Amino acid sequence: MNMNDIIGKKRDGGKLNQEEIEYFVSGYTDGSIPDYQASALLMAIYLQKMDKEETFHLTRAMKCSGDVIDLSGIEGIKVDKHSTGGVGDKTTLVVAPLAAACGVPIAKMSGRGLGFTGGTVDKMESIPGFQTTVEADKFMEQVNTIGLSVIGQTAHIAPADKKIYALRDVTATVGNMSLISSSIMSKKLASGSDAIVLDVKCGDGAFMENFEDACILGKMMVEIGNADHKKTIAVITDMNQPLGKAVGNSLEVIEAIDTLKGKGPSDITELSLTLAGIMIFAGGKAESKEQGYEMAKHALESGEALNKLSEFIEGQGGNPEILNDYSKFPQHTCTKEIACHKSGYVNKIAAKAIGLASQHSGAGRATKEDTIDLSAGIYLHKKVGDKVSKGEVLATVYGTDVEKVAKSVEEAEKAFIISENAPKKEELIKKIII
Ligand code: URA
Repeated sequence: MNMNDIIGKKRDGGKLNQEEIEYFVSGYTDGSIPDYQASALLMAIYLQKMDKEETFHLTRAMKCSGDVIDLSGIEGIKVDKHSTGGVGDKTTLVVAPLAAACGVPIAKMSGRGLGFTGGTVDKMESIPGFQTTVEADKFMEQVNTIGLSVIGQTAHIAPADKKIYALRDVTATVGNMSLISSSIMSKKLASGSDAIVLDVKCGDGAFMENFEDACILGKMMVEIGNADHKKTIAVITDMNQPLGKAVGNSLEVIEAIDTLKGKGPSDITELSLTLAGIMIFAGGKAESKEQGYEMAKHALESGEALNKLSEFIEGQGGNPEILNDYSKFPQHTCTKEIACHKSGYVNKIAAKAIGLASQHSGAGRATKEDTIDLSAGIYLHKKVGDKVSKGEVLATVYGTDVEKVAKSVEEAEKAFIISENAPKKEELIKKIII
């Protein structure tokens, strides 16, 4: 077998078999296949596509390229949740305590933010003392005692994806369904949970801009998960404006806490209850997703989920006093408001533009080596559909670097479109694929 033949076969529209796919994945991971040949194959896959069987083989080969975590030491049906990435998406911080408070063990590995989307690990690190690197036995013990632990993903999980994703990023081969679903699912399947709930974002702040493509991606990932004997459910949700009002690390953690206190924005609250309800159902604690939703709602209203968040923070070395004293979060030293230039309705808040503006305020990194400003970000006082008057404040930008905050304001201003008439309301939860 050689790479040249494999590239040629795919270039001409052929179907790759399991051995050829495994040859490529293992050879590229161990360095014996060079970037130029891997790039050529990725472009051939991008143009000619892969069928379902090829995508399954690719996912499995990538999953098996590194450690496959054994969570059997944790009792019960472990449920993982993954978002395909969006702006202001802090749902893990709400959903995980909700589901754990209803008895579903959550042993989750999360990532850092890169580019315009944030990452749960960075957000949690804005909690003073919180540790995201925890030994495996301590991680398992915490899930068995508290029912919830979230840590950073180790470099040993699906290392093939790490290399292939980095290459796709610079060879214009990201936007292919088989490559995206194998990338996401290889990591999820290697992380060891028994069931997976996928939040597939759809809109201008997501990988999939239109509904049809998001459904195809969701369906493909559900089939991959089910074929690996993991109960997998995908929820297609809107990402045409940022989720909630806060974008940026500590701002988002505060919004997640407020949501668990029953004072969160309606979109975050609704999405979190829906996802938690599905997780409770997938974890065998409810007979239907509707019953799971009611259980999650009770956990929110009774304060049980907020208590679970407190135990979780303390279990990982963080200071639970932050739940009632937000001054203990990293503090900004500079703020700037964005005022509305005319009266009307907020017609659009471009999610990607807000994500980029937040990144440039200091909240995100352009390369993995950048350090981030945990206090920085954007707070949206108005959301799509709100009536606004000239001069009213649309958003506030926070940070510690005056120049970065000024640049962010310039960009965030352009994300708002004000119209004379109220816009059509977008559905937040568009479809559930079981
Ligand atoms: N997220 C991933 O992990 N991989 C992709 O290809 C796209 C989004």
